[in-house]
Amino acid sequence: MRRFDGRVSLVTGGGHGIGRASGLRLAAEGSSVVLADVDLKAALEVADEVNRSGGTAIAVGCDVTDRASVDSAVELATTRFGRLDVLVNTAGGMRDGTTFLDTDDDAWDRLVDLNLTGVARCIRAALPHLLVAPDGGSVVTIGSVNGMSALGGEPYSAAKAGLQNLTVNLASRYGPHGVRFNLIAPGTIRTRVWDTQPGALERLTRLYPLGRVGQPEDIAAAVAFLASDDAAWISGVVLPVDGGLLASGPMALRTDR
Ligand SMILES: NC(=O)c1ccc[n+]([C@@H]2O[C@H](COP(=O)([O-])OP(=O)(O)OC[C@H]3O[C@@H](n4cnc5c(N)ncnc54)[C@H](O)[C@@H]3O)[C@@H](O)[C@H]2O)c1
Repeated sequence: MRRFDGRVSLVTGGGHGIGRASGLRLAAEGSSVVLADVDLKAALEVADEVNRSGGTAIAVGCDVTDRASVDSAVELATTRFGRLDVLVNTAGGMRDGTTFLDTDDDAWDRLVDLNLTGVARCIRAALPHLLVAPDGGSVVTIGSVNGMSALGGEPYSAAKAGLQNLTVNLASRYGPHGVRFNLIAPGTIRTRVWDTQPGALERLTRLYPLGRVGQPEDIAAAVAFLASDDAAWISGVVLPVDGGLLASGPMALRTDR
């Protein structure tokens, strides 16, 4: 018996990076998976990869900044599979490196809408189904170490910090009704978002006590754990999956380690 046999998971941002790895991992552990992504072509490729390897997945075009689009993705999932057990919120991103003073209200709103409001939007759409999931529902959201420390990118980081509060409030409110909410705060993960900054991952590696930046699969493993019954008594936690970065604090910058 695999951990997600008979269960249905919806992964936002499932077309690339952390969302893709999470979708593949949940599918490998028996879940039917709905890959919801604004990049439908990429989501279709991941669904194809799952289905060719004997799993079950479908793709849906979905923009988490658009309520109707989110609602129809959730509707497609429940119509196709008859239930929804797990929601994984990975859609998000930093977009640019604009400084705080140069971030106008529109740019601020766009980043908060994508990284914070988008998650709330997806949870609101999925929650009625998670509340009636036969084995209890689970929400795993991808935050960032940026939400827990002064690593720059203020609108992105503030939005990611907001996800922590959203997680603990919803864990408290809906725990009695059988839905768990947890947040993962990844450190630097080797995905396409770093492609525009040549050499950045090599420079960042030295900050990590475990000697490397993360792979999407490092986060997917934590997603699968928190979404599974192995974490049945875990709710409202913020789990850094960061190669020891936050734990080392100012030590991260020392060269004599
Ligand atoms: N890569 C890192 O170093 C890192 C570190 C910490 C946190 N994160 C977080 O992890 C999550 C995934 O990042 P990634 O590195 O895998 O990036 P990625 O670009 O590889 O994947 C993000 C996915 O989200 C999709 N997406 C973007 N906007 C969307 C929207 N409006 N609606 C639906 N889908 C949308 C993209 O098409 C893409 O498939 C993000 O929330 C990011 O903030 C990443």
